[in-house]
Amino acid sequence: MPDFAAIKQKQQATWATGDFSIIASRVVFVSECLCENADLQAGWTVLDVATGSGNAALAAARRGCIVTGADYVPALLERARLRARAEQVDITTVEADAESLPFADGSFDAVTTVFGSMFAPNHVAAAGELARVCRRGGRIALASWCPEGYTGEMFKLFARYLPPPPGVTPPIQWGVERHVREIFGQAIGSIRSEVREAVFRFRSIDEMITTFRTYFGPTVKTYAALSDSQQKELTGEWTELARKYDRNRGNGPAAIVGSYLESIIERA
Ligand SMILES: C[S@@+](CC[C@H](N)C(=O)[O-])C[C@H]1O[C@@H](n2cnc3c(N)ncnc32)[C@H](O)[C@@H]1O
Repeated sequence: MPDFAAIKQKQQATWATGDFSIIASRVVFVSECLCENADLQAGWTVLDVATGSGNAALAAARRGCIVTGADYVPALLERARLRARAEQVDITTVEADAESLPFADGSFDAVTTVFGSMFAPNHVAAAGELARVCRRGGRIALASWCPEGYTGEMFKLFARYLPPPPGVTPPIQWGVERHVREIFGQAIGSIRSEVREAVFRFRSIDEMITTFRTYFGPTVKTYAALSDSQQKELTGEWTELARKYDRNRGNGPAAIVGSYLESIIERA
């Protein structure tokens, strides 16, 4: 059995490194699309788990929902509050672990998580918490990177250079509907899933890599653990991978296509 507490402590430090809000601004449309497809109703209570700088929390607030955003990185929650103030919408933020949410059973009409709970090491515990705090008949809306496509392959590439702790199921399994069915089990009344595209747009592949190396905690930490020659090798492989999924094949602006699974669950 992996030491989930120790793994999480390390992960928390990783997500607190860099500034994820810069990366988050590139995937705002995923949260907008998820809230729309989940058909969130104005006046609903909504919890966004692993909200980061608040993408899905803000998308729900823009739809008139009463929103709480939870994350275990206080600096990202501060970003979410800043964004809410700028847009003049209300959100409540709570520092919390996705595997142990400080809310009573059935507290929310809907629960969202966008590239969030998938990173908690204990998938069954994280799914169990999303289901527990959602009322019966409520909605659980998930967006999770798939194993295939640019982002899934990027996670696999980085895992070759800095292997994850043994015994931990890869996060990208949340991007496979069979796995989602397994971890949510009896909590699923009905589920509909669709693989969608998320396109990362940068002026060049080099600009994309520099942005991730500066702001994306997991990338910063991986590079810091490598020798100079390993760093060079990783950058070479990463560039090749990005080129493979770039609609423009590395010529001019980059439009790199990642795949994610959007799942909308009706809570049993
Ligand atoms: C890829 S970011 C996504 C953030 C946001 N949902 C978005 O779409 O921009 C992953 C987020 O999950 C949070 N996270 C990861 N594991 C967590 C855990 N066990 N408990 C709470 N937050 C967690 C990180 O702090 C980070 O903000």
